[in-house]
Amino acid sequence: MARKKFIAGNWKLNCLQAEAADLVNGLAQLVQSVQDVDIAVCPPFLSIATVRERVKGTPIKLGAQNAFSVSKDGKSVMSGAYTGEVSPAMLKDAGVEWVILGHSERRQYFGETDAKVNAKIRACYEVGLKPIVCVGELLEERDLGITNSVVEIQVRGCLAGLPAEKVAESVIAYEPVWAIGTGRTATPAQAQEVHAHIRSILVVLYGQSVADQVRIQYGGSMKPDNAKELLAQKDIDGGLIGGASLKAKDFADIILAAR
Ligand code: 13P
Repeated sequence: MARKKFIAGNWKLNCLQAEAADLVNGLAQLVQSVQDVDIAVCPPFLSIATVRERVKGTPIKLGAQNAFSVSKDGKSVMSGAYTGEVSPAMLKDAGVEWVILGHSERRQYFGETDAKVNAKIRACYEVGLKPIVCVGELLEERDLGITNSVVEIQVRGCLAGLPAEKVAESVIAYEPVWAIGTGRTATPAQAQEVHAHIRSILVVLYGQSVADQVRIQYGGSMKPDNAKELLAQKDIDGGLIGGASLKAKDFADIILAAR
């Protein structure tokens, strides 16, 4: 089954308002006519309104980098006494469509666990937001030969108990931690192997038809010069781009490489 490629930019903790406006304006010009690749940018929360205005009438969709929710009395919390947090309902209200969840930087610096990610995904589903769920192994784990089991635990933990029809519309991003921001990209064969493994887990959990629909992005030093080869792999359905998404031309070149 043909899955539409999906390239998303994770701006991380970058861009003041004017820079965000320039970046998205520049990108919009370069990708204005692209229809055969899905495109999203995920600015910091404070730039979401700025970017939202500028993606109107363009093929660029709006994403966020995190959302907060916990499950309380069987319900997803969308408001209340949680100082400093932003809920999926608030993001939906702000025009967001996609939310990155479980990024390794959140796991590393902010104590994000698979169980927490699971509650956040559930809350996103409730308000109609689509998650980009990040998984990936540390370098030590790859060296120990346990990449597949690490990723399997993450996928199963993040998706535990979630409904098949929602999972089918979700995205999983395989981001080997050792490849993020290091310039050391996974080889296309290394990435494809893990992507195929993730899809095989989805087959077990949800059946072939759902597994065939889920798009699995690769993330970790994807650049214009390595994107084409990575995106040519059977189970690589797009990219989650950090550094290269901060330059309109580089990000656009990756999008064009996905065509
Ligand atoms: P880089 O593209 O900078 O390696 O970052 C990847 C990433 O973490 C995207 O979420």
